[in-house]
Amino acid sequence: MPKIEIMGGNTLSGEIKVSGAKNSVVALIPAAILCDENVEINNVPNISDVDDLGDILRYLEVDYQRENNTIKINSTTLCNKLIPEEMSGKLRASYYFMGSLLGKCGEVSMSFPGGCSIGERPINLHLKGFEKLGALIEDKPTGEFIIKADKLVGNEIFLDVPSVGATINIILAAVKANGVTVIENAAKEPHVIDVCEFLNSMGAKIDGIGTSRITIDGVDYLHGTKYSVVPDMIEAGTYVIIASLLGNGLKVSNLNPMHIESLTSKLEEAGVELLIGKDFIEVKNIRDYNAIDITTMAYPGFPTDLQQPMTPFLVNCNGTSHIEETIWENRFMNIEDTVKMGASIEVSEDNKVATIYGKSKLVGKDVWATDLRGGASMVICGLIAEGITNIYNIHYILRGYDDIVGKLRNVGAQIKIVDE
Ligand code: EPZ
Repeated sequence: MPKIEIMGGNTLSGEIKVSGAKNSVVALIPAAILCDENVEINNVPNISDVDDLGDILRYLEVDYQRENNTIKINSTTLCNKLIPEEMSGKLRASYYFMGSLLGKCGEVSMSFPGGCSIGERPINLHLKGFEKLGALIEDKPTGEFIIKADKLVGNEIFLDVPSVGATINIILAAVKANGVTVIENAAKEPHVIDVCEFLNSMGAKIDGIGTSRITIDGVDYLHGTKYSVVPDMIEAGTYVIIASLLGNGLKVSNLNPMHIESLTSKLEEAGVELLIGKDFIEVKNIRDYNAIDITTMAYPGFPTDLQQPMTPFLVNCNGTSHIEETIWENRFMNIEDTVKMGASIEVSEDNKVATIYGKSKLVGKDVWATDLRGGASMVICGLIAEGITNIYNIHYILRGYDDIVGKLRNVGAQIKIVDE
């Protein structure tokens, strides 16, 4: 089993280039099968979630080619069939085949999606949206969903919460439906915007992109496109946190600073001096930081996906910080090993608030990635700790961070993957 080994304590300098966004590309790939011609997607990150989606496309007999950071997809040979559990269960984003196959073929059958166990992760809003468009849903006792529609017809859909997945899935189903679909209380994340712009580049008619009211006027045909994935705001944020802790002239580039203003404003509140350019953020040198409080929220609020990477930063701040997690029920799994490394953290009984008593010194230990962002958090702990940290279960980290080890080594970290 491979592990990541880190010898902590090095300051870091140079440049880290952010890759294309995981949470965008995992939707763009299923979305591409809606296209009636060739699709080329560039700036694709090298992560295992992309490999798993490619496997599903090949299984569906779609022409799928991947070379470096480019993928080419032609779905004219698509054969719609049950997506089995061993494929859908590998990642959460397999659920985007629900919307895209329903939109393309009027029918989809698949097993429940997988993904990190960070909470209940219901899909009731996705299914409610499909039903509003005229689909019938059969939820089989064997765990498979069959979703069918003779004809999908546009409708008004209100989302109880601005769910990223439900917003994208409903858009995928509605893009070729008859008439106009309106999604109220839609998600506004940059990856949701990216999916809309990708579809519009094929001739879809989506308006209100980036607002909480998205309208989709159905079209019959989607032409070919070449599209480049938006930079990953969570990867960017993770490296900006690392720069705040260890940067000695460390520049994080190929990002959109506006996408992570909720993070940078908090770092600045703690005392981090950030040089924010058009497409980069740099930390010239590190200082002593003050405790701050964070509450996770849907975009443009503080992203839940940066909450765990932020924990080691707060461990390093003077005073008492709080993290309130409002999106997922089970997103403090990284705390146990952070405490093992020397942090002083208490999690409330309802698992919603972590209180971090800083500043603590961390010491290298054997630790586990419990989920993707929890794994990134352990990498940061290892980078700031004294001595050697071994991180196990690293498949979680490789699901979502493109070459995290290489990128950090290039800027001076003593980090490597060891195959035990
Ligand atoms: C996406 O998950 C991301 N995953 C998650 O990133 C991210 O944490 C999350 O959005 C929030 O930003 C992908 O894009 C593949 P949601 P998603 O639907 O779409 C509730 C990472 O680490 N809800 O926006 O599954 C739900 O319980 C991953 O990269 C319902 O109640 O999240 C949650 O409280 C982890 N019913 C809230 O909405 C539904 O039908 C937001 O969930 C759907 C969601």
